[in-house]
Amino acid sequence: MAQTESDPEELLELSSETRAILEEHSLRPLWEVEDEMGTALDDPEPGVWKWDDIREAIDHIEEDVPIADLPPGFQRRVAVPINTAHAISNSIYVGIQTVSPGETAPSHRHGANALRFSIDGHEDMKTVVAGEEFPMQDNDLITTPQWEWHDHVNDSDETAAWLDVLDLPLVLDSMNARNVFENHELERQPVTKTPGYWDSQYGNGRPEGGAGDGSIPGPFEGIREPTPPYRFGWDEMLEALRQRADNDEPDPHDGYSLSYVNPATGSPPLFPTMTFRAQLLQEGPTDPHFHNATEVYFVIEGEGATHVGDEALEWSQWDVFIVPPDEIHHHEPDDEAILLGMSDRPVLEAFNFYAEAEPSS
Ligand SMILES: [Fe+2]
Ligand SMILES: [Fe+2]
Repeated sequence: MAQTESDPEELLELSSETRAILEEHSLRPLWEVEDEMGTALDDPEPGVWKWDDIREAIDHIEEDVPIADLPPGFQRRVAVPINTAHAISNSIYVGIQTVSPGETAPSHRHGANALRFSIDGHEDMKTVVAGEEFPMQDNDLITTPQWEWHDHVNDSDETAAWLDVLDLPLVLDSMNARNVFENHELERQPVTKTPGYWDSQYGNGRPEGGAGDGSIPGPFEGIREPTPPYRFGWDEMLEALRQRADNDEPDPHDGYSLSYVNPATGSPPLFPTMTFRAQLLQEGPTDPHFHNATEVYFVIEGEGATHVGDEALEWSQWDVFIVPPDEIHHHEPDDEAILLGMSDRPVLEAFNFYAEAEPSS
């Protein structure tokens, strides 16, 4: 019998003696290993988390558990959309956090990068970062970068809710590395700066010679310019989006979009691991495309659907949804809509792994 007619499985059959030696020394042949690569973590599924459901859940959590009763550690009262093992994706984590009137989420710092995107904000709801109190008004984005002390203080008479976004699953799950962490000795860090201090360092007017020394904070090492504490006020972002819509052509896949820049470099991505866009979509479908980066979206305003593969994810204001890697997708708002787009694309780009294409029709 010619060899080409042999069963390929049979050709790969190892003798029991070889198999025993491999097992004894914790070795395996590549052709078996490569089939299993990429299957250790759950694949994220396309999905949408509706605000009404999130709200119901966080209202109940808020009734049951004061922040002060939470076990020491993160001490944050958060509802976390679950899609993979512990988060909405294997790279980006989002959670919806609430702080009741008079409560404080105690001060801590960690290796993971984080930001807050205010959903239901108030000028007396403050995120304190690196000595400055940043007010959290609707749709403001406030960075709480790597190794900066941060606590959240609600001096208003309303419950504040916001979106937390971190690169935790990338560090903890995908890389199985440690999130270096420390609690502050005080519940609230001392406020040592006047309001607007960090904007005076990294805004449009800067100290001569530049702000900061560009070194990576704390015990960390790397090559990226660290992201400073910063508040991106929504009014300016919205005005810039409107200017784009009035003057520019939209991106065929993402509408009129503005990237949040790392204020230290003046360029995106905001963090080495995650990039963020405010996207204004006008009525009608965008062009489909796919890419190996994960996209997570928060609906700032408007309604519509995002088509992911065969699924239509219907969304409206304050919903959260995910477009997993390599899924063909396009957006279709009913009328004008504004999304916060979040992506792990910088991680792939840093190592020349990012790939994007349009489907062949
Ligand atoms: Fe934190
Ligand atoms: Fe996309």
